[in-house]
Amino acid sequence: MLNKKMKITKIVRKVCKDFEPYIAGKSINTIKREFGLESVIKLASNENPLGASKKALEAIKSNFEDIFFYPDSNSYYLKKTLSETYNLPIKNIFTAAGGDEIIELIAKLFFNHEDEIVISKHSFIRYAMAVKLMDSKAVIVPMKEEGLTYDLMALLGACTKKTKAIFVTNPNNPTGTYNTKSELLEFLSDLPLNDKFGIKPLVVLDEAYFEYALLEKDYPNGLDFLKGNPNLIVFRTFSKIYGLAGLRVGYGFADEEVVDYIERIRPPFNVNFLAQVAAAAAILDKEQVEKSQKLVKEEKKYLYKEFEKLKVKYINSAANFVLFSSLPFKGKELFGKFLKEGIILRSMDEYELPYYVRVTIGTHKENELFVEKLKKLINLNRN
Ligand SMILES: Cc1ncc(COP(=O)(O)O)c(C=O)c1O
Repeated sequence: MLNKKMKITKIVRKVCKDFEPYIAGKSINTIKREFGLESVIKLASNENPLGASKKALEAIKSNFEDIFFYPDSNSYYLKKTLSETYNLPIKNIFTAAGGDEIIELIAKLFFNHEDEIVISKHSFIRYAMAVKLMDSKAVIVPMKEEGLTYDLMALLGACTKKTKAIFVTNPNNPTGTYNTKSELLEFLSDLPLNDKFGIKPLVVLDEAYFEYALLEKDYPNGLDFLKGNPNLIVFRTFSKIYGLAGLRVGYGFADEEVVDYIERIRPPFNVNFLAQVAAAAAILDKEQVEKSQKLVKEEKKYLYKEFEKLKVKYINSAANFVLFSSLPFKGKELFGKFLKEGIILRSMDEYELPYYVRVTIGTHKENELFVEKLKKLINLNRN
């Protein structure tokens, strides 16, 4: 038993004392329980409504009895499969328990107290959290006002002698916007050399929604820029299009020296056995990728049309979600109204977008239900 007089707060690291936890999308069972609902759909965390890759499921079924062994700490087979798929040497590849762990590993490896890390406003919140955890300084740069897009030139402008790294999400969560190949190339080549470190700042390119964004004109593949940019780290995830969010597995590509350091500091066995087996099968599952891309493409068209009919402002998205204006409601209010109707969305207060809500593209039936409830809520308010 803890001694009641013990003041734990006194020994907690200063940066952890006011640490805000990540607000995870609520689960279906939680909402069923809280609202006494029988049927609930989740369009909150950008998961794949078609479910997990069938190839991954088969691989799990034929391997699950071996879970009493520790996994291969080096994820060799998964790395080998990634290496063959992307035609890059294994020494340039690392794996981790999701993009989330990758972000934290990068922070632990590079960020000191005196370092500045450049982050775009309205971009994935886990970067700022990792920076805070390391007690470094996050330099937040506004987006381009029009269209809520990354302002890459403004990111460059924010670099100082203390800049250790810049995070770039392409396409970005939660806005769904993306930067083109020529924009990214210009950004990488214009990065100022840091005299103190003798190298350019690290660029951490988060491509969690890469496979969805491939359908966009001039969307760049970050891997094409690795050659010639030893300061570039690209990472992706199995949580989105491959439908393996519950297994927690992500992967990244970087200069071999960076990979070597990441390998040294990561926890042993950080990618669990079934995650490795499933991910190695999923990466070869072209059918999963194609049918998911098709669904998202068609359903985004459907949602855009319905938003337009309802005169609801939305942002064109290169990913499997759409950010839309919650007006006349506050985002949190609209989110709450949807919850009562059995639909879990994501409000955006922590992204400093209090009048927006994000909806993950679901199956057609789920999207129809979402539109039906949106119509009802908006009309109720307008009448
Ligand atoms: C932009 C972005 N990066 C990284 C992640 C982390 O994904 P995971 O940890 O599931 O791989 C997410 C998850 O939502 C994301 O949206």
